[in-house]
Amino acid sequence: MTTSAKLFTPVRIGDLDCANRVFMAPLTRCRALPVTDAPHALNAEHYAQRASAGLIVSEATQVHVTGKGYMGTPGIYSPEQEAGWKLVADAVHAKGGKIIAQLWHVGAISHPDMQPGGALPVTASDGFNPGGTTHTQNGKVERVAARGLSTAEVHEMIAAYRHSCEVVKRAGLDGVEIHGANGYLLEQFTRDSSNHRTDEFGGSIDNRIRFTLATIDAAIAVLGRGRVGIRLSPITAANNAKPDSNPQATYGRMVEELAKRRIAFVHFIEGNTGASHSLEGFDFAGARKTLAAAGVAYIANNKYTRAMAIDAVESGWADAVAFGVPYIANPDLFERLQQDAPLNPANVKTFYAAGALGYTDYPTLGQLAQAAG
Ligand SMILES: Cc1cc2nc3c(=O)[nH]c(=O)nc-3n(C[C@H](O)[C@H](O)[C@H](O)COP(=O)(O)O)c2cc1C
Repeated sequence: MTTSAKLFTPVRIGDLDCANRVFMAPLTRCRALPVTDAPHALNAEHYAQRASAGLIVSEATQVHVTGKGYMGTPGIYSPEQEAGWKLVADAVHAKGGKIIAQLWHVGAISHPDMQPGGALPVTASDGFNPGGTTHTQNGKVERVAARGLSTAEVHEMIAAYRHSCEVVKRAGLDGVEIHGANGYLLEQFTRDSSNHRTDEFGGSIDNRIRFTLATIDAAIAVLGRGRVGIRLSPITAANNAKPDSNPQATYGRMVEELAKRRIAFVHFIEGNTGASHSLEGFDFAGARKTLAAAGVAYIANNKYTRAMAIDAVESGWADAVAFGVPYIANPDLFERLQQDAPLNPANVKTFYAAGALGYTDYPTLGQLAQAAG
């Protein structure tokens, strides 16, 4: 396929005029400042290098102090964090790009070592332990059984999402993507495998998706529907997430409600995040249709190659395609895909390491040509 493919053409997503349909997927890189969890100049440089993406979705950023589950992830609730995100937004805008913040709470994926006062991590229902290990300041530790949020605390969390949207606005970021995917807090509420509550946030599908939709409504109230999107992963097993008993009914209902709200986009992880692309287990095509009828864009992700992405946009499957790992290693991924140039391989060892190594030092095509003399 030639460079004239639709993938490389502009698209309007909600209120955002994106220069092309090659988007950067959210990528946690654990390089925020210690203590304040604030982004800083190195993060701004990293994102600015990738500003030719049609839209950058930031790494997941916690909306609340209890939402942190990994060392070095940024927050988006304090004045220091707001200043850091302003650095990032300004750097991307100076290069002509667009960046939205992915709003996150890890829920049970955290560990007492990362919680204020060494408290238990919070989740939908008492006793939920996703299993596995995480790295804290005390090294590799086993996850524990988390504590269910009270009804009042869920409302406090919704207020935290709203507050983070105000930070987003003041920092000059272009909008938000609510992180409703990959086994984190919102998905712990959505799936009946991890939600056994009996209040308004548990039981029926409408109750289980109420928290997620409330975060969407809070974001719309602050930013307007055209700057709000969500990431969903109906069939992922990421973070040991157990399947919902009826993903079609649960996520199908979620899609209907999102369509009603006419938000900017839904960003779907098709299959098992980072492991395998699949359209089994959920009617993605049906969701696409429901969303399109409401003017909500469909962003596709998960193991897309250049050829798959060209095809997805050309055929009308997706409005845009988000790339994760390829964007780690290729700051100029858009240009490389457009020119069908070879890609730099990604170094897995530096995904979550510290500093510039494997973060801001991947060369562009231009830098490679210069080095070759
Ligand atoms: C290092 C790394 C960090 C990631 N961090 C996030 C994140 O913060 N939020 C999120 O929703 N997904 C995250 N993901 C998943 C990616 O956004 C993406 O869904 C996945 O890599 C599949 O897309 P790809 O095949 O284009 O890489 C991460 C993946 C990797 C490899």
